[in-house]
Amino acid sequence: MTTVGILGGTGPAGRGVAVRLSAAGHDVVLGSRDAERAAQVASTLTGEITGASNDDAAHCEIVVVATPWDSAVATVRAVREALAGKIVISMVNALTKEGREMLPIYPPRGSMAAQIAAALPDSHVVGAFHHLPASEMENLESSLAADVVIFGDDAEARTAVEALVNEMPGLRAVVAGSTSLASAVEAFTAVCISINIRHKAHSYVTLAGLSI
Ligand SMILES: NC(=O)c1ccc[n+]([C@@H]2O[C@H](COP(=O)([O-])OP(=O)(O)OC[C@H]3O[C@@H](n4cnc5c(N)ncnc54)[C@H](OP(=O)(O)O)[C@@H]3O)[C@@H](O)[C@H]2O)c1
Repeated sequence: MTTVGILGGTGPAGRGVAVRLSAAGHDVVLGSRDAERAAQVASTLTGEITGASNDDAAHCEIVVVATPWDSAVATVRAVREALAGKIVISMVNALTKEGREMLPIYPPRGSMAAQIAAALPDSHVVGAFHHLPASEMENLESSLAADVVIFGDDAEARTAVEALVNEMPGLRAVVAGSTSLASAVEAFTAVCISINIRHKAHSYVTLAGLSI
């Protein structure tokens, strides 16, 4: 059992990850700028999930970043000391909506994972969960069977996140490689969401032909 904190955990993305981590037997702390709001949101979710401040969430063993892209760096910087030496999972996508399409935005370092890694030189940043539809994640009754593309520069941290994801119901971990792949992984989320908007669906990614 691991304690997992989620920064910005009160949004759809954080809630979905929280529910499936809890279903895997982990203790989850939903972080927020407003601990009371987090407690209220946590009380509506299935599983062992508590609500707290982002600072409290950052003191967990593994920490997920689930804020909007334009507040992710400021959010992790504020709790940088608590995150030192830990695995920090970025699920952050930099995206903008134009008409009926979602388009990728490329931050200065090419990806949000690289931006977060630069802000947290003492942490082990791993990317995961980018392509998952939050609504399907939060609903444990859904028939979700999604692949989670994982990347990062620290092989040990990547392996730990791979194991964590494989414990979560409905998910299979697929390690892709280093943070050099982050911009491609994050930008592909724009394709996934645009497909879902166009086809009014909650589709997700599965990779055929892999025997893992
Ligand atoms: N939604 C999805 O299906 C999905 C799937 C995969 C990945 N993602 C990624 O996950 C991240 C979160 O997505 P989301 O849809 O859950 O986003 P969201 O609802 O817009 O935001 C998540 C939480 O972030 C906090 N937040 C909002 N503005 C903030 C600010 N200026 N500073 C600090 N915290 C702020 C809020 O929590 P408090 O007000 O409680 O602090 C909010 O509940 C995004 O980067 C997205 O690309 C989303």
